[in-house]
Amino acid sequence: MSSTIALIIIGVAVLFIIGIKLLASPKTARLGNLVAAAGMLVALLTLHQPAGEYVWSQGWTLNYTLIAIGTLIGLVIGAIGAYSVKMTAMPQMVALFNGVGGGAAALVASLEFFKRAHGLEGLTPFFAVTMLFATLIGSLSFSGSAIAYLKLEGKFERPMTFPGQNIFNGLILLVILGLCGYLTINSSASQATTAFGVMFLLALFFGIAMVMPIGGADMPVVISLLNSFTGLAVAADGFTINNLSMIVAGTLVGSSGTLLTLLMCKAMNRPVTNVLFGAFGSSGGGGKAGASDLGGKTVKPIQADEAALLLGYAQQVVIVPGYGMAVAQAQHQVRELSDELGKRGVEVRFAIHPVAGRMPGHMNVLLAEANVPYDQLCEMEAINPTMDRVDVCLVIGANDVVNPAAREDKSSPIYGMPIIEADRAKTVIVMKRSMAAGFAGIENLLFYKDNTRMLFGDAKASLQTLITQLKAS
Ligand code: TAP
Repeated sequence: MSSTIALIIIGVAVLFIIGIKLLASPKTARLGNLVAAAGMLVALLTLHQPAGEYVWSQGWTLNYTLIAIGTLIGLVIGAIGAYSVKMTAMPQMVALFNGVGGGAAALVASLEFFKRAHGLEGLTPFFAVTMLFATLIGSLSFSGSAIAYLKLEGKFERPMTFPGQNIFNGLILLVILGLCGYLTINSSASQATTAFGVMFLLALFFGIAMVMPIGGADMPVVISLLNSFTGLAVAADGFTINNLSMIVAGTLVGSSGTLLTLLMCKAMNRPVTNVLFGAFGSSGGGGKAGASDLGGKTVKPIQADEAALLLGYAQQVVIVPGYGMAVAQAQHQVRELSDELGKRGVEVRFAIHPVAGRMPGHMNVLLAEANVPYDQLCEMEAINPTMDRVDVCLVIGANDVVNPAAREDKSSPIYGMPIIEADRAKTVIVMKRSMAAGFAGIENLLFYKDNTRMLFGDAKASLQTLITQLKAS
């Protein structure tokens, strides 16, 4: 590789890193995407053959024509997908993109394995292990992402479990590893093709078996984990086909996916093993588990006119959005209510829990779509110390992320999860349709607190009534 190309690839790495950094804020995320895409374009143009010829200096030989056609197809499908996808279907789209990335990495590794195994130089154990690793995790990432996509689409959302499932999955993994061991030593044997085919199919099956027992709402964590697998498969491909850009991009995706997975688990106070093997959500998250009393305590409903009065005369209001706001698509009404309160001199802030909703940054994306100013959005750690001074905390379709059981009830499955301490506000108004539980499938102690009032109904309709009442008063 010439030193010019080495320098360009360092530039590509820098573009990728700057792109990821810019993605950290909704203000700069679009630019971040463009910067990383520019890096990918440069990486494509510097694709080289052993002879040292590059795309820009080559005539359009067959390979480059194929690359150009592939890039074009990808661009068209990606652009149509991105323009037409609904904001609420964004996690599904990420699952699909990740899945095809993993599948592509697996195919590249498979082809390279056979090319080298039957080539003149043969296959060294190091390269055999690298390619088998990329094939294995790329293909399980492909099938696992496909199941994650279907679960997010609402098909078999509940965890699908059976007795001895983990042992069954463990045995499949052992067979896969055994076949990989065989292929490392016997890559050019006549049975290698059959062994490879069986290993490939088992890896696809393992991806399905791994994701089926995981609940629908845990899919963002699973996708992030599979995303890191895809990154590692791409990096392994990079080693085998001697492509530095793939090593850099794959390693960045692998490490950022792993970090995001760990951060999400930390925000839920659940170990990764609990997400992968705990079948969380099988107890009926989102079901009608909630009763209207708890140990003799009952909830206190409130009507929209009274709620509007409380909000209109408050000095400080904190809005806590959750999954229900996304379901109701009520972000524009939330913005309108906040503007209406602002006109009356009420200070309105939004409290954003890191795992509110069903994907990382879910609330930020929806509120950004409704043009809520960024400076009104506060992170959980920043807002919690100020909650005692808040007059009204308006909880809109959030449940688990404001459940004081995380602080007060040691037997609760969410005990220890950091929450937005809505219950410390002077008055709490909770907007939801019923007493149904959230994702964790448990009672919410907040609903029974003395300072809490329940405003039942669809969030969008209730907000619309609140806005009308406020405007009329
Ligand atoms: P949840 O605890 O899931 O509660 C959502 C609430 O919204 C439900 O109780 C539901 O009650 C209400 N709701 C649904 N549709 C509504 C509508 N149209 N109008 C009004 N309310 C509606 O949501 P959350 O507080 O945002 O917590 C998120 C949960 O997902 C956490 O347990 C978290 O650990 C989990 N999770 C999140 C992520 C990420 S990355 N965000 C990843 C994995 C897991 P009704 O049915 O009574 O209306």
